[in-house]
Amino acid sequence: MNIAVIGTGYVGLISGICFAEKGNHVICVDQDINKITALQNLVSPIYEPGIEAFMERNVQAGRLAFSSNLIQAVQDSELVIIAVGTPSLPSGEANLQYIEQVAAEVGRAMNGQKIVATKSTVPVGTNEKIREIIAQQTEQPFDIVSIPEFLREGSAIQDTLHPDRIVIGLDNRELEAVLVELHSSFTDQIFVTDIRSAEMIKYASNAFLATKISFINEISNICEKVGADVTEVAIGMGKDPRIGPSFLNAGIGYGGSCFPKDTKALIQIAGNVNYEFQLLKSVVEVNKAQRYKVIEKLKESLGQLNNTVIGIWGLSFKPNTDDVREAPSLEIVEALISLGARLKLYDPVAMDKFRERFDHPAIEWCGNALAAAANADAVCLLTDWQEFKELQLSQLIYLMEQPILIDGRNVYTKEQIEGAGLHYYSVGRPESTPAYRPQVRI
Ligand code: UDX
Repeated sequence: MNIAVIGTGYVGLISGICFAEKGNHVICVDQDINKITALQNLVSPIYEPGIEAFMERNVQAGRLAFSSNLIQAVQDSELVIIAVGTPSLPSGEANLQYIEQVAAEVGRAMNGQKIVATKSTVPVGTNEKIREIIAQQTEQPFDIVSIPEFLREGSAIQDTLHPDRIVIGLDNRELEAVLVELHSSFTDQIFVTDIRSAEMIKYASNAFLATKISFINEISNICEKVGADVTEVAIGMGKDPRIGPSFLNAGIGYGGSCFPKDTKALIQIAGNVNYEFQLLKSVVEVNKAQRYKVIEKLKESLGQLNNTVIGIWGLSFKPNTDDVREAPSLEIVEALISLGARLKLYDPVAMDKFRERFDHPAIEWCGNALAAAANADAVCLLTDWQEFKELQLSQLIYLMEQPILIDGRNVYTKEQIEGAGLHYYSVGRPESTPAYRPQVRI
């Protein structure tokens, strides 16, 4: 099939590459000329393991191209996929400005029958608005479908090539066969439904996963008080197939470009029809509070934080990405600086992105994890990167001013901690080392 993908953010670029990988002819369009030039030179604007090799292979095979010419791309395609951003407005509502602009441009470019699919996460009813906007611009026949995207950053290509399910929302049943065939090389788990339900499935799925995380984080807070171990509790709970083992890792909460935005948008969607989504409001509040656990634990072990030196391991909102959008690290770093701490920051790939968002004279940027720990009064692990899991923790005692490790993602096992000589605090697990008696820095 000839496909135009409008928007080369995470969703658009990855979808375009994966449709090309499956043998379609794809042209990815963006109005940002610099981005398109970089892509034409096979440089990816996003960090995603393996992405450039996939791009190169498909460009060389003549299946994938990049352009800023939306009109030409639409005219050369049977399927037009809209994958532009829907950032949050101050109210939490999704900003549909980019979607609406693109819909009008697509309408003006139409030269024959097209299918227009939305992959951006959009509030219920948006696809119908897109239909109206396009219809105002063209007499050509077209259909609207909603095909929400469920990929995760860091494993986006594999998630897209091997999805758990594909949801297709449509109202013209004649399209079902062609769209199912297009997607059948990805999975046989294809669920065809109406457009409004497809739009809701995306929000409901993200809200449910966010709920699982806030739920286990609250359980972890209770575990700390009653002496249970949240990692054991999660394993025991997960054995029930109705609960399942995934998304029960307690820590400092979720971040990223989806969960924070989509939970707030769903609260707004409900509010707009006079429904108060109480449960989801609590999920958001619990998530916000959970970030400050690290600071509470630092205060418990060090007393006060003024004039202390704190090493930070990990800045991205999760491993295998350089994305720091809504990352817990941003709030934690700002709060620590306001409490008078000096910080030594290290992340394997996200330091540049973090520095663009936040920089301060109290921050020292470090080249590796051990450098960030050197002379520190405590180290806080905020992102569960594999390289942190593999560190020889016994080295820390020689490097650090005070041997305190706060593990915000529960990455270390008892065995790794035992014998390392550290005072170790994690989330919702009984402390395996004696509590630390703070030393006062002169
Ligand atoms: C998420 C959804 O998983 C994906 O389906 C959707 O399309 C976009 O949003 P993503 O934001 O890339 O994907 O990351 P994900 O792996 O889901 O993690 C989100 C956040 O939750 C991260 O900050 C992660 O650290 C946190 N998390 C995840 C936990 O704190 N505990 C868990 O058990 C799982």
